[in-house]
Amino acid sequence: MPELRNVTPDEFERWMRVESRAHGNRFNHDPEELRPHFDLTRTIAVVDEGQIVGGAHSHLLEMSVPGGVATVAGVSNVEVQPTHTRRGIMTNMMRHQIDGIHERDEPLAALFATESAIYGRFGYGVGSVHESWTIDKRHTTYNRRPDSPGTIAFVDPADIGKELPDVFRRGTEGRPAVFQRAPHHWERDSRDPIHSQGGQGGIFYAAYIENGRIDGYVNYRTQRPAVIVNELMATTPDASAALWRFCFDLDLHERTDAIKRPVDDPLPWLLADPRRLQRSARDGLWVRIVDVAAALQLRQYLSNDRLTLQIKDDFCSWNNRCFELDGSLEGAICRPSAGSPDLTITVGGLASAYLGAASFTTLAQAGLVDEHSPGVLARADRMFAVQLKPWTPYNF
Ligand SMILES: CC(C)(COP(=O)(O)OP(=O)(O)OC[C@H]1O[C@@H](n2cnc3c(N)ncnc32)[C@H](O)[C@@H]1OP(=O)(O)O)[C@@H](O)C(=O)NCCC(=O)NCCS
Repeated sequence: MPELRNVTPDEFERWMRVESRAHGNRFNHDPEELRPHFDLTRTIAVVDEGQIVGGAHSHLLEMSVPGGVATVAGVSNVEVQPTHTRRGIMTNMMRHQIDGIHERDEPLAALFATESAIYGRFGYGVGSVHESWTIDKRHTTYNRRPDSPGTIAFVDPADIGKELPDVFRRGTEGRPAVFQRAPHHWERDSRDPIHSQGGQGGIFYAAYIENGRIDGYVNYRTQRPAVIVNELMATTPDASAALWRFCFDLDLHERTDAIKRPVDDPLPWLLADPRRLQRSARDGLWVRIVDVAAALQLRQYLSNDRLTLQIKDDFCSWNNRCFELDGSLEGAICRPSAGSPDLTITVGGLASAYLGAASFTTLAQAGLVDEHSPGVLARADRMFAVQLKPWTPYNF
């Protein structure tokens, strides 16, 4: 089996080139610019006969969880080059990476998957879901809603790092599964606004302003006949309604497409003819609960209750046991238990329930949860309920 070790400074560019090639991309970055954003002690190089043939990295990040914030290993750059696939290299790398995350006492790992069949086997579960939308301009009339009182103004891309991070923060307040956009990503987007967005046509930023304050913004590009909304962040219902209206009414376009919308976005409820909004949902963030007790203690619970959970975790034996969770709005205590379980849940299912992507009842219907006494599923659902569904608008 190839050796797994950290990337050395002089290997960094070669490692990045392998990463790009494995993803089918040409490497067209300045390695000097990328280098500061990688912690080499958190990298993995897969080395076979002196050649790098794969790798992975994890960023140390903070993610919102219901009522709190958690330290998360943000896993990225996972690849095995096509000459070496399907011989267990990624499996070894996942073992190595999760053991490292556990040793560093980071309770959670999270990632965006290129394909949704890859990570379930390692105990990752869907932590957030988002929707892609498309709607014909002719069907964008709103229900009876008063006009928003504010105004819309363009924002110079050079100013987004100054003007918009606070709007992003306010617009995602109370949402689980959110990572705040790193300053260097605001900076990158201000310099190179078509980065990774695909297509030409330019990126535009427009803000909704009321009483001198920016209450929302939209980042869109045009690809006639469509306006493509990359990100629309609103801190008030007026900002949301006005920014969508602005996009729908742009001249020279017949259609608006949007990517990565939250599943509980108000827009479908605002439309007079909501069936015309075509919605398609897909997995967003994948979450791995690395330390069950530590992770469960980091969030708050809507009802005050106590549950004994039997966790099924084949990949991380330290989690494969019973835990007693005593939770409330004030916080939680979770510790290993010798008691008999109220329910049994896979660690991937727990990741989905943890952030509120799925209820225990739904997970039980999918075979990921077993209820051991009547009424427990409903109690668990009340405890883990969230006011806003998890949403991950920004990929770290
Ligand atoms: C995805 C990737 C890292 C897998 O590496 P690998 O070394 O071939 O994986 P392994 O040999 O350890 O495979 C482990 C298991 O996962 C399965 N698997 C691996 N990649 C898969 C995929 N893309 N879809 C479905 N199953 C996959 C394997 O079939 C194997 O299953 P088995 O244990 O039942 O036989 C590699 O194919 C790759 O780099 N792909 C391109 C880049 C990419 O998609 N990276 C992931 C970024 S999120």
